[in-house]
Amino acid sequence: MKLLTLALLVFSFNTLAFDAGKNFQAVCVSCHTIGGGDKIGPDLAGLDKRRKAEWVHKFVNYPDGMINGDEEEEGYEKPDPIAQKVYALYKPQMMAEQAMTMDQVKATLKWIADQKKEPKGKITTLK
Ligand code: HEC
Repeated sequence: MKLLTLALLVFSFNTLAFDAGKNFQAVCVSCHTIGGGDKIGPDLAGLDKRRKAEWVHKFVNYPDGMINGDEEEEGYEKPDPIAQKVYALYKPQMMAEQAMTMDQVKATLKWIADQKKEPKGKITTLK
């Protein structure tokens, strides 16, 4: 019984404490670097400076909707001009849809800022 309680506590603690760095290494690193240049997607160094949290949240949850627009999805009715420009640089590969909350996005942006790296690659040509 004690063990079960402990296991449950550890489990709920882990789900509450989102570790942005670990999540990045597990989920994003196959397509993105922080300061290492282009991979499948853009170098995300400096993301905290070039995009607002609201934009990143909307984008990672539904990249296709941001790039192409989706009349049936609230908030995604019209294509987003920045998302279209980013896609134009990295197509035909499109970002894989993620389920991220705003808090997780904010934690990720803070973690990226803490890396203190400058972006390299094609994304730097987008002004
Ligand atoms: C399967 C590959 C893949 C994975 C996994 C992936 N991405 Fe991407 N991502 C891309 C590609 C390709 C683009 C650029 C093309 C596009 O817009 O779809 C992109 C673009 C982005 C952008 C826009 C960058 C900018 O400067 O505007 C953000 C933000 C982003 N990704 C965040 C993330 C985060 C955070 C994760 C992990 C939770 C992640 N991505 C996982 C492929 C991926």
